[in-house]
Amino acid sequence: MANTILVGAQWGDEGKGKIIDFLTEKADVVVRSQGGNNAGHTVIAGDKKYVLHLIPSGILRPGKACVIGNGVVLDPVAVVAEIEGVRAAKIKVGKNLLISDCAHLVLPYHRLLDEARELAKGKGKIGTTKRGIGPAYADKASRTGLRMGDLMQPELFSKKLALRIKENNAVLKAFGAKPVSFKKVNEEYLAAGEVLRPFVCNTVVYLHEALKAGKELLFEGAQGTFLDIDHGTYPYVTSSNTTAGGAATGSGVPPHRIDRVLGVMKAYTTRVGEGPFPTENDQISDMLHAMGREFGATTGRARRCGWFDAVATHFATMVNGIDDVAITNLDGLDTVDVIKVCVGYKSGRKKIDVPPSDFLQLAECEPVYIELPGWLTPTSGARKFEDLPPNAQAYALKLAELTGGRLAIVSVGAHRDQTILL
Ligand code: GDP
Ligand code: IMO
Ligand code: MG
Repeated sequence: MANTILVGAQWGDEGKGKIIDFLTEKADVVVRSQGGNNAGHTVIAGDKKYVLHLIPSGILRPGKACVIGNGVVLDPVAVVAEIEGVRAAKIKVGKNLLISDCAHLVLPYHRLLDEARELAKGKGKIGTTKRGIGPAYADKASRTGLRMGDLMQPELFSKKLALRIKENNAVLKAFGAKPVSFKKVNEEYLAAGEVLRPFVCNTVVYLHEALKAGKELLFEGAQGTFLDIDHGTYPYVTSSNTTAGGAATGSGVPPHRIDRVLGVMKAYTTRVGEGPFPTENDQISDMLHAMGREFGATTGRARRCGWFDAVATHFATMVNGIDDVAITNLDGLDTVDVIKVCVGYKSGRKKIDVPPSDFLQLAECEPVYIELPGWLTPTSGARKFEDLPPNAQAYALKLAELTGGRLAIVSVGAHRDQTILL
């Protein structure tokens, strides 16, 4: 399968978890390299549904190693709860999970600050998941963060934590938020640290050895291209590099050891939280929500929905170097008569084919659509590309062509067998 980076080509929730789980059958190691438990990756295996936040979706396949790399920010208490949840479903979590000692910790004051800043922004809020992701990455960049390696040294951790809590409580006070208790956090985190101790190691060395042994790596992207801190719709983004480059820095695997980039995208577009979304469409939202679809896997919020935006996915190909395209949720459009696809934006009098980097300018863009005929036939039973109605085949091929990659996977349902490999 070669070493592959899987990225979301839209605004997150593209169905990455499902595709990762499918591809893990052929991979040896699955690596998360950025984000935290803001992610929610849904995998249906057998008759069970799993929603994974920090543990790579590869954990559901026996014999595969899962790495949480240095670029991830993790809340140790949340990881312990997630491990317990996975184990309760009789999935083995032991030597198959490795956590980088350089991964930064999300602490309770990060969550409180995330919430306080959102409140203070009022109408201008980002609509974060309130998992403390932004403040945790801010501490990392400010060089005031605490890492897994610190947590493995209890005395040192407690000393550093005391100082961090003192400073952050002063900031929380300024926001009118409640301070955190050193004693409580210290106890909870040290206890979680002891549970996680067997998993913590230098994952760069582990991945290097895996590469030397000829093992195949699959990088599990979290969020999506337009939530990238550099390339997304700033400031309505998350705080990490969700695009392909982030996989190298967030894992310590050199870029030239990566062979291919797979871009995952829905057959339409969704977005959770605030920020510009040119192809947003109430009719599509209402239709998908009435089908019980498109509610967030992490926060349960209804996702905003709209037509497929090929201006966005084409830009995603530029930034990520997408070679192959996986289109998910094709079945979501089974009942739509005429399907619109955005192939350009009108910005004032100009027609443009690249999303403006300024979010206000993007918000003012008018989509230019082409119309494609729907297929008005259920597709969820298709197992081969030829099983799909001709209009559905043509639609999927058109999206890949506009995106600029080779159509490699079409998904017509949440289950493993509802995946068509081309
Ligand atoms: P992720 O964050 O990219 O892993 O995506 P999420 O799990 O947050 O959201 C994707 C949703 O679509 C989940 O509910 C999946 O079970 C579901 N899903 C993925 N692919 C398909 C598909 O082809 N058809 C249908 N009906 N559901 C899908
Ligand atoms: P997966 O991996 C969709 C969005 C939030 C908000 C913005 C910033 O499941 O695709 P944050 O909590 O990260 O500071 O929030 O990013 N967001 C996601 N949207 N899927 C995700 O992850 C997301 N993770 C964050 O809704 O708009
Ligand atoms: Mg998700």
